[in-house]
Amino acid sequence: MTDTGTLGLAVVGAGYWGKNIVRNFGRVTGAELLAVADLSEANRTRAQSIAPGARMCTDVADALTDPRIGAVAVCTDAASHHEVALAALSQDKHVFVEKPLTLNPEHSEELVEVARARGLVLMVGHLMIHHPAVRWIKGQLDAGELGEAYYLHLQRVNLGVVRKDESAWWSLAPHDISMVLYLFGDTPTHISARGAAYLRPGNEDVVFANLMFADGRMAEIHTSWLDPHKARRMMLVGSRRMVTFDDTLPAEKVRVYDKGADRTVDYDSYADLITLRQGDIWIPAIRGTEPLLLECQHFVDCVVSGKTPDTPGQQGLDVVRILEAGQRSMAQDGAPIQLPRD
Ligand SMILES: NC(=O)c1ccc[n+]([C@@H]2O[C@H](COP(=O)([O-])OP(=O)(O)OC[C@H]3O[C@@H](n4cnc5c(N)ncnc54)[C@H](O)[C@@H]3O)[C@@H](O)[C@H]2O)c1
Repeated sequence: MTDTGTLGLAVVGAGYWGKNIVRNFGRVTGAELLAVADLSEANRTRAQSIAPGARMCTDVADALTDPRIGAVAVCTDAASHHEVALAALSQDKHVFVEKPLTLNPEHSEELVEVARARGLVLMVGHLMIHHPAVRWIKGQLDAGELGEAYYLHLQRVNLGVVRKDESAWWSLAPHDISMVLYLFGDTPTHISARGAAYLRPGNEDVVFANLMFADGRMAEIHTSWLDPHKARRMMLVGSRRMVTFDDTLPAEKVRVYDKGADRTVDYDSYADLITLRQGDIWIPAIRGTEPLLLECQHFVDCVVSGKTPDTPGQQGLDVVRILEAGQRSMAQDGAPIQLPRD
């Protein structure tokens, strides 16, 4: 706790993405950013200009020497998430970890178990679950406005950022997989994926994956960092309505299509008759708060109140299991891989 009775925070990793975390943890209520750790001097200098009141240090151990720090945000490269997060949990700090939680399921299981045993909050940075548009679509789905969910199609492509430690699958797909789990409220039974590594052997630049659910629902995910267009799209087809979400648009990101196919009985032939419904298209007004600020505030609120986060460590583990199974499928020419059920 800080002198003013608020939660003391540290951010570890202030690189390309971490600087945004530093900026947003400086804006939350109920907490104060006390320290930023980064191995790079240039990144520490930049972080200092964003958070002038925070102490700059080189590593997590140095940051945690301040007893007022109660929670740590881990925004280092994915390969070091496990080590840095474990160091913070072992000192009884609540932890936020950027996606993907870790680069293998065993490491994620360990973090989830350590946090559980010590009664600490472990939250993963599945940013899209905090996006007002995604929340709105989930609300419509749960209220039955879209009918029964049939399938999801998601596309997250761009030219870059090309990474070394993570493939396009591990870097980009956590966003899409977490949205699928959230919207469908379930984990898939199987995954089948095909990918190709054109730039660096063994590090896929483009991946097409199909997630199958026990009740027949499906989700198709396309991720790439080798694409001329930036696309952040999702389409949900339901039995009553269809919805599209385009996160590259500055506003009016969601469109609802009153389109579908109705099955009636043709009494002349007593056969099934499919009639297509071409209804209105409307654009709902959705409040546009920055998802990253909502995510950072949610972490602070969960630590302060003891509430389980909407994106808990367990969800991070579920996503990592799907990523890893997708990787195995790619190694087997797209063969369906069965996923474990907890
Ligand atoms: N939520 C999102 O939309 C989003 C977007 C981009 C990246 N990310 C995630 O954020 C994480 C960081 O990505 P990035 O693009 O910022 O990477 P980056 O390489 O730009 O930055 C990582 C930083 O961590 C520092 N670092 C590494 N190990 C450290 C350690 N042990 N102690 C202190 N500092 C250490 C490095 O010096 C570097 O500055 C990744 O997990 C990435 O997947 C999330």
